[in-house]
Amino acid sequence: MRILVTGKNGQVGYELSRSLACFGDIITTDSKTLNLSELSTLEDKVLSLKPDLIVNAAAYTAVDKAETEQELAYKVNSQGPEILAKVAKKLDIPLVHYSTDYVFDGGSESAWKEDDTPNPMSVYGRSKLLGEEAIVKNTDKYLILRTSWVYDARGANFLNTMKRLAIDKVQLSIVNDQSGAPTWSRHIADATAQIIGQSLLTKNNDEFWHKHSGIYHLSGAGKASWFDFAEAIFSLMEEQGKTIPKIIPIPTRDYPTPAARPTNSVLDNTKLFEHFGICLPEWKTTLKWVMTE
Ligand SMILES: NC(=O)c1ccc[n+]([C@@H]2O[C@H](COP(=O)([O-])OP(=O)(O)OC[C@H]3O[C@@H](n4cnc5c(N)ncnc54)[C@H](OP(=O)(O)O)[C@@H]3O)[C@@H](O)[C@H]2O)c1
Repeated sequence: MRILVTGKNGQVGYELSRSLACFGDIITTDSKTLNLSELSTLEDKVLSLKPDLIVNAAAYTAVDKAETEQELAYKVNSQGPEILAKVAKKLDIPLVHYSTDYVFDGGSESAWKEDDTPNPMSVYGRSKLLGEEAIVKNTDKYLILRTSWVYDARGANFLNTMKRLAIDKVQLSIVNDQSGAPTWSRHIADATAQIIGQSLLTKNNDEFWHKHSGIYHLSGAGKASWFDFAEAIFSLMEEQGKTIPKIIPIPTRDYPTPAARPTNSVLDNTKLFEHFGICLPEWKTTLKWVMTE
């Protein structure tokens, strides 16, 4: 089996190379070797790689920068995935794609379910939603895994920003009125591998995709604000004997950003468990593992 994994240097893409390795040959690409914004050549390039499965972990993820780089964000997050979906359909192979909690507007008190109506507040969120819609429209063997607040030990993410700021700041103000769920990229990759494994075990592969193709929420269990996330990071750093800054909770209005973020973007992961028996641990438990590593 030849599995094309795009975005090999990203947080999820990097982990996928390991999680999927047992299934066959992993062909990994980055923005130089397979650029999702080069729309005119994308189909031919993917076809030349002869994949049996495409896992698209590439994305334009700079949420604030997307407000000014709209065209590129839409190409990478919407039009590129549309082409991947058309290629998947042409080859009759599955496409696994990742999306985001930022497709929602945050205006609900409860955790978001897959069939809740999206209403993105930013270019990034809209570009990811259009990508989802293009996939649903253009192919029929697919998984769209919406996740949230992705981090790992090596990427550009909230954890590493906090660790870096702890070196020379004595005090930090952190937003306390946005809720979400931190999700370890390794868990996203492992969950992806478990689903692919289940598809391979199913005698009639077409039946599997007919039954399970769709959108799923996949995030760490529980709920956090950015302040809660920072507090947990610094508490673990303190246990490790590191010097930590004092942190002060602030409202979003005191930390203006180019892109608006949802107030509540916690995802309800029930559907994932009902279809595949997969659930992720509480985010704080996972954070401890990541920071120990
Ligand atoms: N990060 C989050 O907090 C978060 C939250 C919710 C959902 N998600 C979704 O989860 C998925 C994985 O995110 P991640 O955190 O792993 O992202 P990431 O660490 O930012 O990695 C994204 C990768 O996409 C590649 N890429 C960017 N532009 C590209 C282009 N034009 N053509 C081809 N590749 C391109 C980059 O490759 P190069 O290194 O070669 O430039 C980068 O390695 C994405 O679909 C994202 O939308 C992420």
